Amino acid sequence: MGRVLALVLFFSPLFLLSSVPSAAAREEAVGRRSHRTERISGSAGDVLEDDPVGRLKVFVYELPSKYNKKILQKDSRCLNHMFAAEIFMHRFLLSSPVRTLNPKEADWFYTPVYTTCDLTPNGLPLPFKSPRMMRSAIQLISSNWPYWNRTEGADHFFVVPHDFGACFHYQEEKAIERGILHLLQRATLVQTFGQRNHVCLKDGSITIPPYAPPQKMQAHLIPPETPRSIFVYFRGLFYDVGNDPEGGYYARGARASVWENFKDNPLFDISTEHPATYYEDMQRAVFCLCPLGWAPWSPRLVEGVIFGCIPVIIADDIVLPFADAIPWEEIGVFVAEKDVPNLDTILTSISPDVILRKQRLLANPSMKQAMLFPQPAHPGDAFHQILNGLARKLPHDQSLYLMPGQKVLNWTAGPVGDLKPW
Ligand SMILES: *[C@@H]1O[C@H](CO)[C@@H](O)[C@H](O)[C@H]1NC(C)=O
Ligand SMILES: *[C@@H]1O[C@H](CO)[C@@H](O)[C@H](O)[C@H]1NC(C)=O
Repeated sequence: MGRVLALVLFFSPLFLLSSVPSAAAREEAVGRRSHRTERISGSAGDVLEDDPVGRLKVFVYELPSKYNKKILQKDSRCLNHMFAAEIFMHRFLLSSPVRTLNPKEADWFYTPVYTTCDLTPNGLPLPFKSPRMMRSAIQLISSNWPYWNRTEGADHFFVVPHDFGACFHYQEEKAIERGILHLLQRATLVQTFGQRNHVCLKDGSITIPPYAPPQKMQAHLIPPETPRSIFVYFRGLFYDVGNDPEGGYYARGARASVWENFKDNPLFDISTEHPATYYEDMQRAVFCLCPLGWAPWSPRLVEGVIFGCIPVIIADDIVLPFADAIPWEEIGVFVAEKDVPNLDTILTSISPDVILRKQRLLANPSMKQAMLFPQPAHPGDAFHQILNGLARKLPHDQSLYLMPGQKVLNWTAGPVGDLKPW
């Protein structure tokens, strides 16, 4: 049917609205029963359901609470924002069976610093103090334990979920100018930011999904057979006048282009207004736009997966979460930023067969689990994917270990402001 139906659909948006969704929903329901047969496989193989226990040991540095718990006490909103993974990863590791209390047998060292929990009164995290705080924490672990100096951090990992990871600035230009904090140049970074060939993404980093509250999403699930009567859905900013008064920086203009081209298109349900039915609406939509904002990624990707809405990723060269374990090209739709004006044609040209296959993959429970940081943790969740990613990097190459007294990093490199004590 593919070709003929696709043509009909192409010329008849109304038909598409009324007919594809119910077929898709039926298929989704079927997919739910037969998901065991359709495995999710990435470039690293069929690894999504691997169990990390027994494959790595992690030593958690014990730091004064001013680096983590005290910061959270000051502002509990940090538990709900999209960078909360850094807090939950800390809690998870403390009670994980991969944790070792004996640093001599550790494969990886983890330093629990909450770098994204400094919020403006409006709840916006700004990472301006993060470089000093991180530097201070590294100074502390390198003088109190012998392990940092052995490798200058090459067997250490850090969770840095802010917009441009360890570049610690929310504006791309400034982030690029800063570069990754020098002291972290040998460490493995676990971060939300992922973009190929970008100074803020070091080779070997682990890209994770942003945090989205699992219980809250669960509470908004609607029956899976509900027809998907919305073709394209998006809620969010198109312009950020406050931070980008002249326009053009925010989302590199891509969101403005979505609005300017499609605000009056009946296939596009797009607006800045966040309705109370936001999560339900995503479950009634075929495609959910995931355009870049200040950073390339957004929580919409996670929401799309959880709610079975095919993510339409508009963020050139983005590296998506756990990209070696998840075949994102098969699951989402990628649209180049410059092609936004053709978004309608691009999406209406996708054949129903392809749509159904993407919906089937999205319905796979292991796919959904990998996007979430639930409490308590659950096999296959994002915590486990991070550990699996770290385990796949073992054993460490012997060349990481420095000669006694050998120094590679320059402790005074970087902007002078970063050198002030924290
Ligand atoms: C690690 O090296 C620094 C000098 O770079 C030194 O100050 C510190 O004492 C060393 N740490 C240990 C535990 O020896
Ligand atoms: C370390 O960085 C500082 C600041 O950029 C620079 O002045 C200094 O020469 C560097 N030291 C070494 C040993 O490269």
